[in-house]
Amino acid sequence: MTHPARSRLVVLVSGAGTNLQALLDAMADPAYPAEVVAVGADRADTGGVTRAQQAGLPTFELRVQDFATRADWDAALADAVAAYEPDIVVSAGFLKLAGVRFLQRFAGRYVNTHPSLLPSFPGMSGPQDALDHGVKVAGCTLFVVDAGVDTGPILGQAVVDVRDDDDASTLHERIKTVERTLLVDVVGRMARDGWTINGRKVTIP
Ligand code: GRF
Repeated sequence: MTHPARSRLVVLVSGAGTNLQALLDAMADPAYPAEVVAVGADRADTGGVTRAQQAGLPTFELRVQDFATRADWDAALADAVAAYEPDIVVSAGFLKLAGVRFLQRFAGRYVNTHPSLLPSFPGMSGPQDALDHGVKVAGCTLFVVDAGVDTGPILGQAVVDVRDDDDASTLHERIKTVERTLLVDVVGRMARDGWTINGRKVTIP
C-alpha cells in the first residue's frame, strides 16, 4: 500500500526528549502521516539531540548566549528551522520563548506541549503550581503558540488524577505519559486532516 507524502516536523527540545521519542516511535510506522526531519536545541548535551542522532536525523544547537542579541538568536533559529521546510514545528520541552521573527515565520503551525491544563498554571512550574493549588485533576495541553506565554489556541488536552502523595516529580511523570500520547495523536491528525484556527477555536476536521 502506498501512502501520501508525510508532513514534515521539526522538533525543538531542551531536555530528555521523551516527547520527541514518542514521535520518532510513531513515525516508524509508515502509515503515520508525519515524520521528524530535524531536531534543534537551545543548549548542548540534551537527551533530545542524542535521541535524534541515534535515529539518524540532522540536529542543530543554537544557544542564546552565542548571539549578540536575543533577536539575532531568534532569526538564526527561524532560519535553521526553515531550512528543513517543516509543515509543523513542535516545541517538545523547548524552554525558550520564540521571538517575533520566528512566530511570524511559523504562524499557525508552531505548536507547544505544556504540562498543565491551560489556562491554569502557565509558565515553568505547571505541575508544582497545580499541586500548590490543591487541584484534584491535572494534565497537559497542546496548543498553537502565539505571542503570549502558554496562551495560544488549544489543540488538545489530556487529564490525569492528582494523588494525595504526589510531589511535582511524580505528578509530572504521570502527566508526561498522557502528554506523549496526546502529542502523537494530535500531530498525526493535523498532518492527516489539516486544521483551521478561528480566534481561539482550533478545528481538526
Ligand atoms: C514536558 O512535560 C513538556 O510539556 C515540558 O517539559 C517536559 C519535556 O519532557 N515543557 P521531555 O523532554 O519531552 O521528556
